[in-house]
Amino acid sequence: MDIRFEEAAALKEKPQGPLGFGKIYTDYMYVAEYDKNKGGWWDQAIVPFGPIEMSPASMVLHYAQETFEGLKAYRTKDGTIQLFRPEMNARRFINSNERMSMPAVPEDMFVNAVRALVEKEAAWVPSGEGESLYIRPYMFATEEGVGVHPSAKYKFIIIASPSGAYYASGVNPVKIWVEDEYIRAAPGGTGFTKCGGNYAGSLKAQEKAEQAGYEQVLWLDGVNRKYVEEVGSMNVMFLIDGKVVTAPTDGTVLPGVTRNSIIHLLKDWGYEVEERHMSIDELMEAARDGKLQEAWGTGTAAVISPIGELCYKGEKHVINDFKTGDLTQKLYDTLTGIQWGELEDPYNWTQ
Ligand code: COI
Repeated sequence: MDIRFEEAAALKEKPQGPLGFGKIYTDYMYVAEYDKNKGGWWDQAIVPFGPIEMSPASMVLHYAQETFEGLKAYRTKDGTIQLFRPEMNARRFINSNERMSMPAVPEDMFVNAVRALVEKEAAWVPSGEGESLYIRPYMFATEEGVGVHPSAKYKFIIIASPSGAYYASGVNPVKIWVEDEYIRAAPGGTGFTKCGGNYAGSLKAQEKAEQAGYEQVLWLDGVNRKYVEEVGSMNVMFLIDGKVVTAPTDGTVLPGVTRNSIIHLLKDWGYEVEERHMSIDELMEAARDGKLQEAWGTGTAAVISPIGELCYKGEKHVINDFKTGDLTQKLYDTLTGIQWGELEDPYNWTQ
């Protein structure tokens, strides 16, 4: 199926100065239509960025069949543009949709659509330090109806946003509140998917953490509030006594592209990486004993976010004197070096 193109009447001014994260949008967006009764995907187009017409009875507005992805296009020093492991986003999108009873966007359709939009919007891929074009594919149910069942109709849209670093302050340690009341995910639920509902349900704890003077939440498992799972909207890793520990992706944790890439790097550098359920008690004990050397979150948006302090039930521990650790920094430098084409890419991650 070809991608139609609708020309915009006028193009926007390119932004000057700091971009922020996800605040500015390019001239065009990609939109594909799905209808079960028309045999599936039946239209793909790149059209001017603008409002979406949909019925107030669209099923997504009532029962939240919605999934999304996040990836970036990077401008290298020689001016070319590259993506980072987009097929992993495509596969995760398929898995998210499967869990939400939504149809698959085939992997090649997803990657081709991302490429087509990035090609059209090449002039919007910024070239400043730490800047990239953040790409947001998402899909939602558009069938009219307030009966509860999987929608027969969907829109798959991709928008793009020239963005600076996710945190305005750059790679700086954040203070983390260990949340022991609200949960993010439970076995059998949707924790491994990127569905909007997961993020809606996380906001309350985020507000609570902010009120207590913390920046992000460390999520514990939904059954016992015992095992460490994620931090904010990122995967989380701990350097304890020379080994790296992170939660396994066995249903309640998002299989992060950055998480996967960092694990590759760590193993290549000779680190032992333990993907296992680690209790908050074990983590606090390691902190008390001085064995917790570094901690960081991983995600596409922020790449790496060092953790400088943990607070659990009133017990506080500062990690690495609230400074970005050497390993954390090396991981950040290496991964961003590959993403922006400044370092060799022995893994063929960029394309
Ligand atoms: C990411 O780390 O890329 C995220 O998932 C954050 C995003 C929801 C803005």
